[in-house]
Amino acid sequence: MKTDQSKYSDSPRRQINITTELPHQTEYTLALNGEYSHVAFDEVRAPLNKGQWISKIFKFENSIPLDVEIGTGNGTHFAHYAQKNPHRALVGLELKYKPLIQTIRRALNALCKNAAVARFHAFNIDELFSEGEIDNVFIHFPDPWTSPKKPKNRVVCKSNLEVLHRLQKPGAIIEFKTDSLEYFLWAMDEIRESSYKILFETQDLHNSPIKAENFETAFEKIFLREGIKINFVRLQKTV
Ligand SMILES: C[S@@+](CC[C@H](N)C(=O)[O-])C[C@H]1O[C@@H](n2cnc3c(N)ncnc32)[C@H](O)[C@@H]1O
Repeated sequence: MKTDQSKYSDSPRRQINITTELPHQTEYTLALNGEYSHVAFDEVRAPLNKGQWISKIFKFENSIPLDVEIGTGNGTHFAHYAQKNPHRALVGLELKYKPLIQTIRRALNALCKNAAVARFHAFNIDELFSEGEIDNVFIHFPDPWTSPKKPKNRVVCKSNLEVLHRLQKPGAIIEFKTDSLEYFLWAMDEIRESSYKILFETQDLHNSPIKAENFETAFEKIFLREGIKINFVRLQKTV
């Protein structure tokens, strides 16, 4: 798989291993390319859906919105959102096999016909979707990469925001939640340099006016139990 590095020179392609070439297959890798292969795509099959997720995978009319969740974890938000929004499609990106399979299994158990997952690195998202193909994007508790040398691994950063801006439709939103105040403050600086409009931001989501509409993810529950405040921002592509 090759990507046009010149176009996105700030976010070079991140290499990940090829599932079918792993020396040891597990119940999760086998399920990805077996039982769930109609709605779960490995890093080789997923890009074949670029520009065609709605028509080819979900077999809906092209007019329904396509939302994306980055780093689904065990999929509690993913399945909840897909079930609550049957007239929107949802694609989840997850690198690790076990949470990937938990995510799609949870959605299928909830009888969702509008959900699919891809084992894909979020930094390569432009290989999965074409310009203007996606609507809302959810990024809940991505790894914070707090070591001083590691901000280049942070999903919410200026270069990834530029890519997402190209992929999203006008009016679409991004929601970003993190337990790490350090990451949040750093990300807010990156966001202010991007083309997105900030609709709402808080450093304490659970004492904010939008607490009632919030869905607590699995990691969020853990952080709340530890008394950690949740940082949240909602952005919109307006131009
Ligand atoms: C801290 S967990 C949060 C899971 C879930 N969103 C939640 O709130 O419970 C972060 C997840 O993102 C996944 N992840 C980390 N980096 C990623 C990347 N670059 N692309 C896709 N998934 C990634 C990890 O495998 C992990 O499951």
